[in-house]
Amino acid sequence: MKQGEIKVETIRTIRELRRKLAPHRQSGRSIGFMPTLGYMHEGHLSLIRRARKENDIAVISIFVNPLQFGPNEDFDRYPRDMERDLRLAQEAGVDFAFVPDVREMYPEPVKTTVKVSGITDRLCGASRPGHFEGVATVVLKLLLIVGPDRAYFGMKDAQQVAVIEQMVKDLNVPVAIVPCPTLRESDGLAMSSRNVYLSPEERRQAVVLNQALQEAAAAAAAGRTDAGYLRSLVAGRIAAAPLADPEYVEVLSYPSLEPLEGRAQPGTRIIIAVAVRFGKTRLIDNTILEIR
Ligand code: PAF
Repeated sequence: MKQGEIKVETIRTIRELRRKLAPHRQSGRSIGFMPTLGYMHEGHLSLIRRARKENDIAVISIFVNPLQFGPNEDFDRYPRDMERDLRLAQEAGVDFAFVPDVREMYPEPVKTTVKVSGITDRLCGASRPGHFEGVATVVLKLLLIVGPDRAYFGMKDAQQVAVIEQMVKDLNVPVAIVPCPTLRESDGLAMSSRNVYLSPEERRQAVVLNQALQEAAAAAAAGRTDAGYLRSLVAGRIAAAPLADPEYVEVLSYPSLEPLEGRAQPGTRIIIAVAVRFGKTRLIDNTILEIR
């Protein structure tokens, strides 16, 4: 293919996407779907490759959803590069890229939103009011538009995965949610489109998130499963990075996201989750542990 030529089928309207997917669905082909905000990195591409492998048809959406950004958040400056995204998506084997604009997704102010209660009150839900309502609403819309058999989500956003799984269960949405492991840079920093905002020194120090979580995971594996102990271990480690400004360090049950007191019970799953600011950039990361 000539340099610059994009062959992935790029669709801007809901009507057109439904029209294109209908014959595939009718002939029994399975559809794998990965919704994205764009500005793809290797983390997105690994999910797309998996969707490609596990389904007959691979569909992505690229849509920076205004509903999930707060008034003082980075909606306007969220990194965007549609041409590069489409090229990467094509290389990863996408058949259809759905790239609606805001008017296509929200032709009028929305009066109907999806609110998943309880699990959205903590972690990012506490500091980003309305965020998960925006996420759940757009994800439900996209699932209704695409009608996939499987939808793929990265576990860096573990709370988002819990919210979507709950929504799909509560509303009987006929789709299998496939959680996929977090992809990391060679020094352990979780891949994120927002990493491009970091200055070189912030980027160097940001590795502390994964280091702190790894230390806590090792402590838990060695039997130190007390939630308070794990929380202070991670918080202390992050505090040692001078540019890190922690928003939360939490140890909760997963996926119910209930606070834990004392030692985590054997046979349960817990999440150690962090949100830390480096300058204007907010990074999140987590580890999920099976307690033995
Ligand atoms: O995780 C994201 O990229 C977004 O929250 C999602 C799922 C694409 C919804 O806008």
